[in-house]
Amino acid sequence: MVRNAGFGGGLATIRPGICMIDERRYRAWYKDWFDREEYEVVYGHRDDDEAAKLINLIVAFTRLAPASRVLDIGCGRGRHAIRLASQGYRVTGVDLSRSSIDAARVRASSMGLSIDFEVGDMRELVCDGCFSMVVNMFTAFGFFEEDDEHERAIASMSKALYTDGWLVQDFLNAENVRRNLVPESSAVKSGMEVTQKRWIEDGRINKSIELRGPAGVQKFSESVRLLTLEDFDRMYRQAGLVLHGVFGDYDGGPFGPDSPRLIMFARKHER
Ligand SMILES: C[S@@+](CC[C@H](N)C(=O)[O-])C[C@H]1O[C@@H](n2cnc3c(N)ncnc32)[C@H](O)[C@@H]1O
Repeated sequence: MVRNAGFGGGLATIRPGICMIDERRYRAWYKDWFDREEYEVVYGHRDDDEAAKLINLIVAFTRLAPASRVLDIGCGRGRHAIRLASQGYRVTGVDLSRSSIDAARVRASSMGLSIDFEVGDMRELVCDGCFSMVVNMFTAFGFFEEDDEHERAIASMSKALYTDGWLVQDFLNAENVRRNLVPESSAVKSGMEVTQKRWIEDGRINKSIELRGPAGVQKFSESVRLLTLEDFDRMYRQAGLVLHGVFGDYDGGPFGPDSPRLIMFARKHER
């Protein structure tokens, strides 16, 4: 049985190995996929240890004062928010995915942590000048069709900061993706065969994900704009933010063409 799930029905295979996106279903894929438990099957390896490394880097670089207010926007199931709260920060987590927010709430309360988790859209203003730091982790960005939506999201993040507050974004490294693209890979995860096909088109990295298990086949898709450091720098300036540091991995290694990540530290300046 082939069961189309999420917006996976939007992938039409036209020749073996080549996928084209059905434009009507291509839109807003991110509203569904992150809500699915299959997302956890594919990305379960992105775990708490990885989150802890990144939070250690962030705390070391920013020297954020204890008990500061932090917003994790696109917080998913809350792995970074929980780490921040366990270090004594006062944390709010916001995500578009209701099931992720529900899971984050359950997990935080089972750990005795008080974190304000809310469903929300990063393009909308969370508050005006009420956080010392906004974090946006593990490519929780670049999904929108139009670049002005990305600009709007950065502007909202900036608006949520106090003057001198930090915006920290952890994004894919577009140059690395272009240089080292693996067009197809397969692995067995949680008893399911997961096949991922990747291709670059119109400045976006697109992925089709097929999960094959006892219940049949499910197909999902992702599409992320290949934004570069220069793109972010431009959006930051527009939003009153100034870049203060860039790293290329969660250990604080340098950013370069082959580094796995693009981790940016920007600061809100007086307008
Ligand atoms: C790749 S996941 C990363 C989740 C989390 N930061 C982590 O590292 O585990 C991207 C997240 O961004 C969220 N997201 C996508 N579009 C969003 C939007 N417009 N506003 C808020 N969150 C959004 C998704 O629901 C998803 O949880």
